[in-house]
Amino acid sequence: MRINNFIAFASAAVMVWGCKAGGDNPGREYAANMYHSVAYEPMSQVTDESAGTWVNSLDNGRGEYFNSNKYNPYRMNMREPAPNTVKRNAYGWLPYRNKRVGKDSVDIVTAGMKNPLDSTKEILAEGKVLYETYCKHCHGAKGEADGKVSDKYAGVANLKGDAYVAISEAHIFQVITHGAGLMGSHGSQVSPEDRWKIAKYVKALQKQK
Ligand code: HEC
Repeated sequence: MRINNFIAFASAAVMVWGCKAGGDNPGREYAANMYHSVAYEPMSQVTDESAGTWVNSLDNGRGEYFNSNKYNPYRMNMREPAPNTVKRNAYGWLPYRNKRVGKDSVDIVTAGMKNPLDSTKEILAEGKVLYETYCKHCHGAKGEADGKVSDKYAGVANLKGDAYVAISEAHIFQVITHGAGLMGSHGSQVSPEDRWKIAKYVKALQKQK
């Protein structure tokens, strides 16, 4: 009985001792590969098959850190795009290539561009949610520069003003993508699909009294 107690105590002590960590010492790690899980990084190419054998739990005999892919170029995990191709989005649209231009040239660079989305109730409803997320604080719920930001700062465009009532949906798309004058670009926050939805909603909003 005593011996059993002693063994229980001694193994508990060893376990607790093993958990000691601090400074540069990570302590003893049980099931080390749970701490050092190796992700398939798209670009990484650890070609040394023995890298990380000390934490290996795989039964293929390779180290835990080996993660290159001998079938792909440069031994990357990522596939290279097919040569001479341009990536399209889920809708099959090509990337938008117009650059930022001065306010007076927005209509010139967007001439002939059409909104690829239909004016359905769903699209308008989604456009409203997106407008209220990304535009309302400046342009206001009514689009008349009645947002909270315009309370404090002058210069927000009144989208129902004479200068803007007739702008095209492509004009709005370009302005969201690259900004215009005082307004900064929202291209990194709002996806191309969502920009077209907002453009639809802004046109509908401009017609509301
Ligand atoms: C941080 C405030 C702010 C936000 C957010 C904002 N805008 Fe603007 N917007 C402005 C200001 C300021 C102007 C006036 C720019 C100028 O004339 O110098 C403007 C101008 C515009 C114009 C007219 C530009 C032109 O000259 O043709 C459109 C259209 C427009 N915004 C649409 C939007 C839409 C759509 C959103 C939401 C995705 C949005 N804005 C978000 C501040 C903002």
